[in-house]
Amino acid sequence: MDSIHPDDYGLSKPETDITEREDIELELLLVGVHRLYGYDFRNYALPSLRRRIWHFIHAEGLGNISELQGKVLHNRATFERMVHNLSIPVTEMFRDPNLFLTFRQKIVPILRTYPYIRIWHAGCSTGEEVYSMAILLHEEGLYDKSRIYATDMNDRSLETAKQGVFGIEKMKLYTKNYMEAGGTRSFSEYYTAKYNSVIFQPFLQKNIIFAEHNLATDRSFNEFNVILCRNVMIYFNDELRNHVHKLFHDSLSNFGILVLGSKESIQFTELSESYESLDRVEKIYRKIK
Ligand SMILES: C[S@@+](CC[C@H](N)C(=O)[O-])C[C@H]1O[C@@H](n2cnc3c(N)ncnc32)[C@H](O)[C@@H]1O
Repeated sequence: MDSIHPDDYGLSKPETDITEREDIELELLLVGVHRLYGYDFRNYALPSLRRRIWHFIHAEGLGNISELQGKVLHNRATFERMVHNLSIPVTEMFRDPNLFLTFRQKIVPILRTYPYIRIWHAGCSTGEEVYSMAILLHEEGLYDKSRIYATDMNDRSLETAKQGVFGIEKMKLYTKNYMEAGGTRSFSEYYTAKYNSVIFQPFLQKNIIFAEHNLATDRSFNEFNVILCRNVMIYFNDELRNHVHKLFHDSLSNFGILVLGSKESIQFTELSESYESLDRVEKIYRKIK
Protein backbone atom coordinates (compact mmCIF):
# COMPACT_ATOMS: atom_id res chain seq x y z
CA MET A 1 0.00 0.00 0.00
CA ASP A 2 1.29 3.47 -0.87
CA SER A 3 2.11 5.45 2.20
CA ILE A 4 0.58 8.92 2.44
CA HIS A 5 3.18 11.63 2.24
CA PRO A 6 2.91 14.17 5.09
CA ASP A 7 2.77 16.89 2.44
CA ASP A 8 -0.70 15.64 1.49
CA TYR A 9 -1.90 16.96 4.81
CA GLY A 10 0.12 20.15 4.39
CA LEU A 11 2.03 19.05 7.49
CA SER A 12 5.59 19.24 6.30
CA LYS A 13 5.35 22.60 4.58
CA PRO A 14 8.38 24.71 5.38
CA GLU A 15 7.69 27.54 7.78
CA THR A 16 8.28 30.15 5.02
CA ASP A 17 5.36 28.75 2.95
CA ILE A 18 3.03 29.00 5.94
CA THR A 19 4.09 32.57 6.57
CA GLU A 20 3.64 33.45 2.92
CA ARG A 21 0.16 31.92 2.88
CA GLU A 22 -0.71 33.90 6.00
CA ASP A 23 0.63 37.12 4.43
CA ILE A 24 -1.61 36.51 1.39
CA GLU A 25 -4.65 35.78 3.57
CA LEU A 26 -4.04 38.90 5.63
CA GLU A 27 -3.62 41.08 2.55
CA LEU A 28 -6.86 39.74 1.05
CA LEU A 29 -8.73 40.32 4.31
CA LEU A 30 -7.53 43.92 4.57
CA VAL A 31 -8.23 44.72 0.90
CA GLY A 32 -11.73 43.23 1.27
CA VAL A 33 -12.46 45.20 4.43
CA HIS A 34 -11.23 48.41 2.82
CA ARG A 35 -13.29 47.90 -0.36
CA LEU A 36 -16.48 46.81 1.36
CA TYR A 37 -16.51 48.92 4.52
CA GLY A 38 -14.05 51.77 3.79
CA TYR A 39 -11.88 51.04 6.87
CA ASP A 40 -8.21 50.96 5.93
CA PHE A 41 -5.96 48.81 8.13
CA ARG A 42 -3.52 48.05 5.30
CA ASN A 43 -0.83 50.32 6.73
CA TYR A 44 -1.01 49.30 10.36
CA ALA A 45 2.24 47.91 11.80
CA LEU A 46 2.22 44.19 10.98
CA PRO A 47 3.36 42.50 14.22
CA SER A 48 0.66 44.04 16.44
CA LEU A 49 -1.99 43.84 13.69
CA ARG A 50 -1.27 40.13 13.23
CA ARG A 51 -1.45 39.55 16.99
CA ARG A 52 -4.82 41.35 17.26
CA ILE A 53 -6.25 39.49 14.25
CA TRP A 54 -5.27 36.11 15.70
CA HIS A 55 -6.66 37.11 19.09
CA PHE A 56 -9.94 37.93 17.36
CA ILE A 57 -9.91 34.68 15.31
CA HIS A 58 -9.65 32.68 18.55
CA ALA A 59 -12.32 34.79 20.27
CA GLU A 60 -14.67 34.08 17.36
CA GLY A 61 -13.91 30.34 17.47
CA LEU A 62 -12.44 30.37 13.95
CA GLY A 63 -9.42 28.52 12.56
CA ASN A 64 -7.59 30.87 10.19
CA ILE A 65 -7.57 34.28 8.50
CA SER A 66 -9.49 33.07 5.43
CA GLU A 67 -12.35 31.87 7.62
CA LEU A 68 -12.37 35.27 9.27
CA GLN A 69 -12.43 36.95 5.86
CA GLY A 70 -15.54 34.97 4.85
CA LYS A 71 -17.33 35.90 8.06
CA VAL A 72 -16.31 39.55 8.05
CA LEU A 73 -17.30 40.10 4.41
CA HIS A 74 -20.70 38.43 4.84
CA ASN A 75 -21.63 39.75 8.24
CA ARG A 76 -21.41 43.41 9.21
CA ALA A 77 -21.71 42.65 12.92
CA THR A 78 -18.54 40.52 12.75
CA PHE A 79 -16.78 43.36 10.94
CA GLU A 80 -17.82 45.80 13.66
CA ARG A 81 -16.56 43.46 16.37
CA MET A 82 -13.27 43.23 14.45
CA VAL A 83 -12.91 47.04 14.36
CA HIS A 84 -13.43 47.19 18.12
CA ASN A 85 -10.91 44.42 18.58
CA LEU A 86 -8.30 46.23 16.47
CA SER A 87 -8.86 49.53 18.18
CA ILE A 88 -7.00 48.92 21.53
CA PRO A 89 -8.86 51.57 23.56
CA VAL A 90 -6.43 51.60 26.51
CA THR A 91 -6.30 55.01 28.17
CA GLU A 92 -6.52 56.79 31.53
CA MET A 93 -7.09 60.26 32.96
CA PHE A 94 -3.98 62.44 33.15
CA ARG A 95 -2.05 59.55 31.58
CA ASP A 96 1.67 60.42 31.82
CA PRO A 97 0.98 63.14 34.44
CA ASN A 98 4.22 64.93 33.69
CA LEU A 99 2.97 65.69 30.17
CA PHE A 100 -0.04 67.52 31.63
CA LEU A 101 2.20 69.33 34.14
CA THR A 102 4.50 70.43 31.31
CA PHE A 103 1.48 71.46 29.23
CA ARG A 104 0.34 73.67 32.13
CA GLN A 105 3.76 75.22 32.56
CA LYS A 106 4.87 75.65 28.94
CA ILE A 107 1.81 75.65 26.69
CA VAL A 108 -0.87 77.35 28.78
CA PRO A 109 1.08 80.68 28.80
CA ILE A 110 1.10 80.56 24.98
CA LEU A 111 -2.63 79.73 24.82
CA ARG A 112 -3.44 82.61 27.15
CA THR A 113 -2.43 85.03 24.41
CA TYR A 114 -5.04 83.64 21.97
CA PRO A 115 -8.56 85.07 21.75
CA TYR A 116 -9.97 81.62 21.05
CA ILE A 117 -8.45 78.12 21.40
CA ARG A 118 -9.18 75.14 19.17
CA ILE A 119 -7.85 71.74 20.29
CA TRP A 120 -8.06 68.37 18.53
CA HIS A 121 -7.64 65.08 20.41
CA ALA A 122 -7.15 62.55 17.58
CA GLY A 123 -7.65 58.94 18.71
CA CYS A 124 -9.28 59.97 21.99
CA SER A 125 -10.60 56.48 22.77
CA THR A 126 -13.13 56.59 25.65
CA GLY A 127 -12.41 60.25 26.39
CA GLU A 128 -10.40 60.23 29.64
CA GLU A 129 -7.64 62.32 28.03
CA VAL A 130 -10.23 64.84 26.83
CA TYR A 131 -11.89 65.30 30.24
CA SER A 132 -8.39 65.72 31.69
CA MET A 133 -7.71 68.56 29.25
CA ALA A 134 -11.09 70.16 30.01
CA ILE A 135 -10.26 70.13 33.74
CA LEU A 136 -6.81 71.60 33.12
CA LEU A 137 -8.19 74.40 30.93
CA HIS A 138 -10.96 75.08 33.46
CA GLU A 139 -8.43 75.47 36.28
CA GLU A 140 -6.33 77.80 34.14
CA GLY A 141 -9.37 79.94 33.32
CA LEU A 142 -9.18 79.06 29.61
CA TYR A 143 -12.02 76.60 29.17
CA ASP A 144 -14.68 79.13 28.26
CA LYS A 145 -12.73 80.30 25.24
CA SER A 146 -11.79 76.78 24.15
CA ARG A 147 -13.40 74.30 21.79
CA ILE A 148 -12.17 70.69 22.04
CA TYR A 149 -12.75 68.30 19.12
CA ALA A 150 -12.37 64.70 20.25
CA THR A 151 -12.32 62.04 17.54
CA ASP A 152 -11.77 58.31 17.17
CA MET A 153 -12.57 55.65 14.57
CA ASN A 154 -14.23 53.47 17.23
CA ASP A 155 -17.88 54.52 17.63
CA ARG A 156 -18.32 52.34 20.72
CA SER A 157 -15.49 54.15 22.52
CA LEU A 158 -16.97 57.50 21.51
CA GLU A 159 -20.32 56.50 23.03
CA THR A 160 -18.60 55.89 26.37
CA ALA A 161 -16.73 59.18 26.01
CA LYS A 162 -19.99 61.10 25.43
CA GLN A 163 -21.55 59.59 28.55
CA GLY A 164 -18.66 60.74 30.75
CA VAL A 165 -19.27 57.75 33.04
CA PHE A 166 -16.26 55.79 34.26
CA GLY A 167 -15.56 53.00 36.77
CA ILE A 168 -15.24 54.16 40.37
CA GLU A 169 -12.33 51.76 40.95
CA LYS A 170 -10.16 53.90 38.67
CA MET A 171 -10.54 57.08 40.71
CA LYS A 172 -7.66 56.29 43.07
CA LEU A 173 -5.19 56.17 40.19
CA TYR A 174 -6.81 59.15 38.45
CA THR A 175 -6.63 61.25 41.63
CA LYS A 176 -2.94 60.42 41.97
CA ASN A 177 -2.34 61.30 38.29
CA TYR A 178 -4.31 64.55 38.70
CA MET A 179 -2.17 65.64 41.66
CA GLU A 180 1.08 64.77 39.88
CA ALA A 181 -0.20 66.69 36.83
CA GLY A 182 -0.39 69.87 38.92
CA GLY A 183 -4.12 69.76 39.74
CA THR A 184 -5.10 72.64 42.02
CA ARG A 185 -8.36 71.40 43.54
CA SER A 186 -9.76 68.25 45.05
CA PHE A 187 -10.24 65.83 42.13
CA SER A 188 -13.54 64.55 43.58
CA GLU A 189 -15.06 68.00 42.90
CA TYR A 190 -15.27 67.01 39.26
CA TYR A 191 -17.47 63.94 39.55
CA THR A 192 -20.44 62.44 41.36
CA ALA A 193 -20.30 58.81 42.44
CA LYS A 194 -23.24 56.52 41.77
CA TYR A 195 -23.04 52.78 42.64
CA ASN A 196 -19.86 51.51 40.93
CA SER A 197 -19.48 54.45 38.56
CA VAL A 198 -18.73 58.13 38.59
CA ILE A 199 -20.21 60.70 36.26
CA PHE A 200 -18.15 63.76 35.42
CA GLN A 201 -19.68 67.22 35.90
CA PRO A 202 -21.73 68.18 32.81
CA PHE A 203 -20.03 71.60 32.57
CA LEU A 204 -16.85 69.78 31.49
CA GLN A 205 -18.62 68.57 28.34
CA LYS A 206 -19.98 71.93 27.33
CA ASN A 207 -17.15 72.79 24.90
CA ILE A 208 -16.32 69.28 23.73
CA ILE A 209 -17.46 67.91 20.37
CA PHE A 210 -17.11 64.13 20.04
CA ALA A 211 -17.11 62.81 16.45
CA GLU A 212 -16.09 59.79 14.43
CA HIS A 213 -12.98 60.43 12.34
CA ASN A 214 -10.59 57.94 10.78
CA LEU A 215 -7.01 59.14 10.50
CA ALA A 216 -6.27 56.71 7.67
CA THR A 217 -9.11 57.76 5.39
CA ASP A 218 -10.73 61.04 6.52
CA ARG A 219 -9.57 64.55 5.78
CA SER A 220 -8.74 67.59 7.85
CA PHE A 221 -11.89 69.33 9.13
CA ASN A 222 -10.69 72.52 10.83
CA GLU A 223 -7.67 74.59 11.81
CA PHE A 224 -6.30 73.95 15.31
CA ASN A 225 -3.99 75.65 17.78
CA VAL A 226 -3.18 72.31 19.44
CA ILE A 227 -3.36 68.71 18.23
CA LEU A 228 -2.82 65.82 20.64
CA CYS A 229 -2.41 62.37 19.13
CA ARG A 230 -0.94 60.12 21.78
CA ASN A 231 -0.38 56.38 21.62
CA VAL A 232 -2.17 56.01 18.29
CA MET A 233 0.56 56.15 15.64
CA ILE A 234 2.62 53.46 17.41
CA TYR A 235 0.21 51.04 15.69
CA PHE A 236 0.89 52.46 12.21
CA ASN A 237 3.69 51.75 9.69
CA ASP A 238 5.94 54.55 8.37
CA GLU A 239 3.72 55.24 5.36
CA LEU A 240 0.56 55.77 7.40
CA ARG A 241 2.48 57.72 10.04
CA ASN A 242 3.72 60.13 7.35
CA HIS A 243 0.21 60.41 5.94
CA VAL A 244 -1.20 61.33 9.38
CA HIS A 245 1.61 63.82 10.04
CA LYS A 246 0.73 65.51 6.75
CA LEU A 247 -2.90 65.68 7.87
CA PHE A 248 -1.87 67.25 11.20
CA HIS A 249 0.50 69.69 9.52
CA ASP A 250 -2.33 70.82 7.22
CA SER A 251 -4.67 71.11 10.22
CA LEU A 252 -2.39 73.15 12.51
CA SER A 253 -2.32 76.93 12.46
CA ASN A 254 1.04 78.72 12.20
CA PHE A 255 3.01 77.99 15.38
CA GLY A 256 0.41 75.39 16.32
CA ILE A 257 1.36 72.80 18.96
CA LEU A 258 1.60 69.05 18.32
CA VAL A 259 1.67 66.61 21.26
CA LEU A 260 2.62 62.96 20.70
CA GLY A 261 2.80 59.94 23.02
CA SER A 262 5.88 59.17 25.12
CA LYS A 263 7.08 56.46 22.70
CA GLU A 264 6.44 58.57 19.60
CA SER A 265 8.46 61.26 17.84
CA ILE A 266 8.37 63.62 14.89
CA GLN A 267 11.98 62.66 14.20
CA PHE A 268 12.46 60.37 11.19
CA THR A 269 9.14 61.47 9.67
CA GLU A 270 8.95 63.45 6.42
CA LEU A 271 7.87 66.56 8.34
CA SER A 272 10.54 66.58 11.06
CA GLU A 273 12.01 69.83 9.69
CA SER A 274 8.65 71.61 9.93
CA TYR A 275 8.60 71.53 13.74
CA GLU A 276 10.76 72.69 16.62
CA SER A 277 10.80 70.80 19.87
CA LEU A 278 9.31 72.60 22.90
CA ASP A 279 9.88 69.68 25.25
CA ARG A 280 11.97 66.72 24.17
CA VAL A 281 10.90 64.36 26.95
CA GLU A 282 7.16 65.06 26.70
CA LYS A 283 7.15 65.08 22.88
CA ILE A 284 5.69 68.57 22.50
CA TYR A 285 6.43 70.30 19.18
CA ARG A 286 5.62 73.61 17.52
CA LYS A 287 4.98 74.02 13.80
CA ILE A 288 7.49 76.48 12.39
CA LYS A 289 6.96 76.10 8.65
C1 LIG B 1 -4.25 53.31 22.88
S1 LIG B 1 -5.62 54.35 22.47
C2 LIG B 1 -4.97 55.95 22.89
C3 LIG B 1 -5.98 56.82 23.63
C4 LIG B 1 -5.45 58.14 24.15
N1 LIG B 1 -5.00 58.99 23.08
C5 LIG B 1 -4.37 57.96 25.18
O1 LIG B 1 -3.20 58.15 24.85
O2 LIG B 1 -4.66 57.57 26.30
C6 LIG B 1 -5.55 54.32 20.69
C7 LIG B 1 -6.80 54.85 20.03
O3 LIG B 1 -6.53 55.12 18.67
C8 LIG B 1 -7.68 54.83 17.92
N2 LIG B 1 -7.33 54.63 16.51
C9 LIG B 1 -6.62 53.63 15.95
N3 LIG B 1 -6.57 53.77 14.62
C10 LIG B 1 -7.25 54.91 14.32
C11 LIG B 1 -7.55 55.59 13.12
N4 LIG B 1 -7.14 55.13 11.94
N5 LIG B 1 -8.28 56.73 13.19
C12 LIG B 1 -8.71 57.20 14.39
N6 LIG B 1 -8.47 56.60 15.57
C13 LIG B 1 -7.74 55.47 15.54
C14 LIG B 1 -8.23 53.57 18.58
O4 LIG B 1 -9.59 53.37 18.28
C15 LIG B 1 -7.97 53.85 20.06
O5 LIG B 1 -9.08 54.43 20.68
